[in-house]
Amino acid sequence: MNNFIYHTPTKVYFGKDEEFKVGKIIKEYGGTKVLIHYGGGSAVKSGLLDRVKECLSDVGLEYVELGGVKPNPELPLVRKGIELCIKENVDFVLAVGGGSVIDSAKDIANGVANPDIDVYEFTKKTVAPQKTLPKGVILTLAAAGSEMSASCVITNPETGEKRGYNSVCNRMDFAIENPELTYTVNKYQTACGAVDIAMHTMERYFCPGTDTYLTDSIAESVIKSVLKAGVDAINNPYDYSARANMMWASSLAHNDLTHCGREFSLPVHQFEHEVSGMYTEITHGAGLAALWASWARYVYKANIPRFLQFAHNVWNIDIDFENQEKTVIKAIKMQEDYYKSIGMPTSLKELGIKPEDLEPLAYKCSFGKTRVLDGYMKLGYDDMLNIYKMAY
Ligand code: NZQ
Ligand code: ZN
Repeated sequence: MNNFIYHTPTKVYFGKDEEFKVGKIIKEYGGTKVLIHYGGGSAVKSGLLDRVKECLSDVGLEYVELGGVKPNPELPLVRKGIELCIKENVDFVLAVGGGSVIDSAKDIANGVANPDIDVYEFTKKTVAPQKTLPKGVILTLAAAGSEMSASCVITNPETGEKRGYNSVCNRMDFAIENPELTYTVNKYQTACGAVDIAMHTMERYFCPGTDTYLTDSIAESVIKSVLKAGVDAINNPYDYSARANMMWASSLAHNDLTHCGREFSLPVHQFEHEVSGMYTEITHGAGLAALWASWARYVYKANIPRFLQFAHNVWNIDIDFENQEKTVIKAIKMQEDYYKSIGMPTSLKELGIKPEDLEPLAYKCSFGKTRVLDGYMKLGYDDMLNIYKMAY
């Protein structure tokens, strides 16, 4: 097991009605004027936004609002948010939404706290933020795990680049997680969420590492739980248990717990970010579902025992020791069939990608043929192109 630092500072308030505490909690972090940041309207329609405003007013907190975050959040709205916060002397950022709203809120908080640095430099990784504004989230969608992650993913619509950067400044101070707030998430988005949560865990699970049987069994439990919860929530959107387990899995899958002692890399995520960066209408989870099995088929030979463990512990497959690859291929197929069964695409064609996009995708993913992805197996430009082609 490798050395590791596990630092997950986000305070989680989990369960029914927890969002009513939001005003009191923000005050504990010293907030006096709040930016309420939200998406395209689901929080308005559900009445959540009005409840939040009331909670803030009840404890004497002032606020300004900025809605309109699109799925796959974009840089121009981040810049607008920074300008608004500086003008209005905002000292606390509250995200009300899913991963896109949270990431936009993180970037705004970093931009406001570092007014002399262009916020896009953080995404380009030319400068790392050293400070940020206090910030929290009322989570409305179990998927990206951004509520507890150190990551922030922003798209620059001018270049079509979708890039993430990791920083301790990207950790939310608190996350309010009421599973009932996800009852209105539609079936497609619920399925995308299940894929993303599973993938945050599986990508870590398939990173190099040895003797991590505790971490492995936590990861296997998260994967199995979310596969079950995803189906249950799709079949019955008001199933509290399914929504609750899915929400908690979202946070645990991406707060670093599931790779303690192993290396860390998210290669399929890098493939996917190019896809939804190029076609911003594509949902991240759907892009991951379209790519994963091709990645798996391309790389599995690099570490057959790891895939056998996945086959046995996650999919309950009896290992065929005479023909181990047969077992691996069966497990990959079962994971792929699961994605199909919840209405997810399993090819890039289904997502509307064109054949002529494959080379530009590989070129972008390899940062102009300069980047090699780590993880289960090192992947350069040619490998990337092969995987995009296999996934077509
Ligand atoms: O915008 P509104 O109207 O709120 O609608 C959203 C949006 O259309 C809707 N939604 C959210 N809560 C809802 C709801 N609809 C009904 N009822 C509710 N309670 O769902 C749609 C998708 O929302 P979005 O926030 O885009 O989804 P998600 O949480 O999957 O976030 C995706 C973004 O996060 C990034 C992805 O790349 C993508 O940009 N990621 C961020 C990560 C991180 N920061 O750690 C890690 C992930 O791997 C991922 O890359
Ligand atoms: Zn993801």
